[in-house]
Amino acid sequence: MSSSAERFDRKARGEFGRYGRTVVHRGELLRHPVYTRVLHWSVAISFILSLLSGFAIYSPWLYRWLTPLFGGGARTRFLHPWFGLAFTIAFFFQFLNWFAPMQWTNADSRWMRRLRAYVTNQEKVEPKETGFFNAGQKLYFWLIALSAILFLITGFLLWFDDVVPRWTVAVSYVVHDLAALLMLAGFIIHIYEGTAAQPGTFRSMTDGTVTRDWARTHHPGWYEEVTDRDPRDDQENRPAVT
Ligand code: HEM
Repeated sequence: MSSSAERFDRKARGEFGRYGRTVVHRGELLRHPVYTRVLHWSVAISFILSLLSGFAIYSPWLYRWLTPLFGGGARTRFLHPWFGLAFTIAFFFQFLNWFAPMQWTNADSRWMRRLRAYVTNQEKVEPKETGFFNAGQKLYFWLIALSAILFLITGFLLWFDDVVPRWTVAVSYVVHDLAALLMLAGFIIHIYEGTAAQPGTFRSMTDGTVTRDWARTHHPGWYEEVTDRDPRDDQENRPAVT
């Protein structure tokens, strides 16, 4: 990532930090600052609006149920590209913000080999090398980045379908719809992992903080980095629950 993008990102974090505060209580760690949270929820809202308006014009069955939300069929068709554009712009800033911690490492390749254990919740504590994001989270991020590019290109071709060759429109329909279905699947898994599957995670995107215990069990590598403590020692020294 170029240094000008990094400088922009640092400045934006500072600016947003002046308007909103994150209170970190004893026993907690700062996970996501205000800037990250504002970006995340802007991405989420614009994505959900794009998804609902997109599915409304995609399926005749859903058309009946979803278009009234946006004021009718014609208005849904008009609004959808604008929601999509808002999503792409919001995600572009999130992409710059998370580019560094989303870099793939050898530890991530090792993590992928124990995906089954993660999904079935067999292990309570993540491997010691799991950093700020685990490999599953990184995959989701790169899936969104790829989909955002595909949505943008095919979306413009569909938006201005009267000035581009017919075959590009036909291909765009297929690619646009496949990307949307892939993103829907990723979105459902993401909501589950960010709420019910991993208690204590959701608050990181509302309050911006997590408990030290959450950090130690889910992201031990990051825990060690920010606390300068060995997560295994802290596990052993925890007071016994009677
Ligand atoms: C509306 C329901 C949503 C909920 C409850 C939710 C929850 C969360 C939470 C709690 C985190 C922080 C995870 C951590 O710090 O380890 C997170 C991260 C993230 N969110 Fe969401 N999110 C939602 C929607 C979305 C949408 C619509 C997108 C994009 C299309 C998105 C993209 C991401 C990405 C890329 C991350 C970082 C990687 C990851 O944790 O998977 N989120 N989300």
